[in-house]
Amino acid sequence: FIADKGNHRHFMAKEIHEQPEVVGRTIAHYVDLATGRVKLPTALPFDFAKLRRLVISSCGTAYYAGLVAKYWFERLARLAVDIDVASEFRYREMPLDEGELALFISQSGETADTLASLRYAKGEKQHILSIVNVPTSTIARESDVVMPTLAGPEIGVASTKAFTCQLAVLLALAIAAGRARGTLSEAEEQRLVASLVAVPGAMADSLSSEREIEHLARELAKARDVLYLGRGPAFPLALEGALKLKEISYIHAEGYAAGELKHGPIALIDEAMPVIVLAPHDAVFDKTVSNVQEVAARGGKIILIGEERAVEEAGVATFAAIGMPALDPVIAPIVYAVPVQLLAYHTAVVMGKDVDQPRNLAKSVTVE
Ligand code: G6P
Repeated sequence: FIADKGNHRHFMAKEIHEQPEVVGRTIAHYVDLATGRVKLPTALPFDFAKLRRLVISSCGTAYYAGLVAKYWFERLARLAVDIDVASEFRYREMPLDEGELALFISQSGETADTLASLRYAKGEKQHILSIVNVPTSTIARESDVVMPTLAGPEIGVASTKAFTCQLAVLLALAIAAGRARGTLSEAEEQRLVASLVAVPGAMADSLSSEREIEHLARELAKARDVLYLGRGPAFPLALEGALKLKEISYIHAEGYAAGELKHGPIALIDEAMPVIVLAPHDAVFDKTVSNVQEVAARGGKIILIGEERAVEEAGVATFAAIGMPALDPVIAPIVYAVPVQLLAYHTAVVMGKDVDQPRNLAKSVTVE
């Protein structure tokens, strides 16, 4: 395999733009278009209906994919999820009932802490399921079931396409779990699958806001600190947005649950600090909007990412808005990843940073 940037300046740009294609390919691997239902590529050695709890463990961006999935598994399948970063999980000595399910998410399949967590879970007699991008990896080999992401090789150190492919697999899995547990009817499953199948098109749409984002990046590049806010599944995406931004631009960024704003970060708000708000049009949209008003009242520089019409109707005073297509909120975390990645990418480019090889970071962390 020879890595090729195509006509992009960086691998990260190429990988961001490849997403409609690779996420589409991944989704096609997990759904049956003829019946409109999820079709897992491998038989499961456990029954979702009998599980009492799912534990998830992973690192970095893969951890945030797991955090988004927690909302999906709990909501769609009424399956309780316990999730932790692998560096904590491996030493926590968490008691696990025999025969439950442990899920590990990893692009490389070689992350030392994730592998150690897997081995701990195996010692506790859990079924081991992994979502990996490298099917020949150690984590894949040591798992009972492997659900591959078909992202292709990811070269940029900051994960992009592997993340959205992980989300696609996780949503398919949560839908399958919902069906097995009787929390989703066949019609609901078909509706969710139709939304999942619409993801690549929506991602392609949201890539068209790149020019605006490039422009905004010049503004972000001047900031010393950036706050990212979201609620529900947009909260872990806010964490991912902050991670991405600090990894490659070295601007200090923090992701926060919008509802926690008043318990601390509101003290930091002034005209100099951009506050990026992820506001998909979901059940907590109005709550997010009222958090945005709190920021506006304190002179905060708001960058709102949401559906144009909903944002207009809400009438929030923003510094800038990034318009998103109208979406089923269930798929919003996958699609909203695109502007989040583009904001980090263009900010780092404006600042002249080494986007593909940020200082002190490694693509795969195989030592503790
Ligand atoms: C490193 C990479 C991240 C990645 C994390 C987990 O920190 O720089 O991009 O999310 O490791 O890696 P994995 O291969 O397990 O997904």
